[in-house]
Amino acid sequence: MSEVVLVTGSNGQLGYDVVKLLEENNYIVVGCNREKLDITNLDNVKQIFEEVNPSIIVHCAAYTNVDQAESDVELAYKVNAIGTRNLVASAEAIGAKFVYISTDYVFDGEGSEPYNEFMPTSPLGVYGHSKLAGEELVTSLSTKYFIVRTSWVYGSNGNNFVKTMLKLSEDRNSLNVVNDQRGCPTYTFDLAECILNLINTEKYGIYHASNSGSCTWFEFANAIFNEANINIQVNPVSTLEFPRPAKRPSYSVLDHMSLRLNEIPEMRPWQEALRNFLKVNKSLEKKV
Ligand SMILES: NC(=O)c1ccc[n+]([C@@H]2O[C@H](COP(=O)([O-])OP(=O)(O)OC[C@H]3O[C@@H](n4cnc5c(N)ncnc54)[C@H](OP(=O)(O)O)[C@@H]3O)[C@@H](O)[C@H]2O)c1
Repeated sequence: MSEVVLVTGSNGQLGYDVVKLLEENNYIVVGCNREKLDITNLDNVKQIFEEVNPSIIVHCAAYTNVDQAESDVELAYKVNAIGTRNLVASAEAIGAKFVYISTDYVFDGEGSEPYNEFMPTSPLGVYGHSKLAGEELVTSLSTKYFIVRTSWVYGSNGNNFVKTMLKLSEDRNSLNVVNDQRGCPTYTFDLAECILNLINTEKYGIYHASNSGSCTWFEFANAIFNEANINIQVNPVSTLEFPRPAKRPSYSVLDHMSLRLNEIPEMRPWQEALRNFLKVNKSLEKKV
């Protein structure tokens, strides 16, 4: 019998691809956008859980605006901590598995070696703190959890760095892009596959899941333009030249130790994933 999976944030970048992939793999999927399920409303959560009775929850909804979170502190915690608490408590009450998507921003980025799942966390900003608060609620309330930390997410549905670069290239001949933050771009399609591999198992715990390898935003921008055959001058700049409200980790490369230890495939190199994304989204490449 097919399992019933409830996916939050189904209008977001990741939630959209998770719904699609699980459906293709014969799960009964109930995708919930904010209109159908406001995760901050406990009554709403309880009512949906009663209706759907899922055996797996993939929680992709989040407050994701890193800069705005610095001034919108309570809403960031309300969504990322309280909303997560509402879902995870309801999941535990019916014995369901719970997948919580978290972030590389739980680390401060002071390191110079990839962060594995057993290293101490130390977020720099409100967004990272609120996502970590969500993680802590998951670990304390669920007995069947997967915490999946990812980074630099892009996909077909929604806005992201790849789309922004392509859009900016339509009316500019040169761009300044930060070259002193290193991380790993992650394609939502690949991350959805990784989540699919996890939910089949009882290998609960914390996982780092990003495409393999690493780059700076400047290197990522160059790769995007090369792959899309766009001729544009990209200038490397420092974070100091690009002031933003939220401080970001300068090094947030994730090591996928838990995937390896649990014999679950790591994701392909980010360059391959980017190539595939641009191929699938050919219409994004306007300027040649
Ligand atoms: N984007 C990244 O670079 C990145 C990096 C690391 C980790 N992550 C994590 O990966 C996950 C997926 O990210 P994403 O890029 O797919 O995010 P996204 O595109 O911003 O989608 C998040 C979704 O959550 C929904 N949402 C917000 N508040 C809600 C509420 N109160 N009730 C129900 N839904 C609500 C939003 O709905 P609306 O559309 O109505 O606003 C949106 O559709 C998140 O947990 C995020 O923290 C993302």
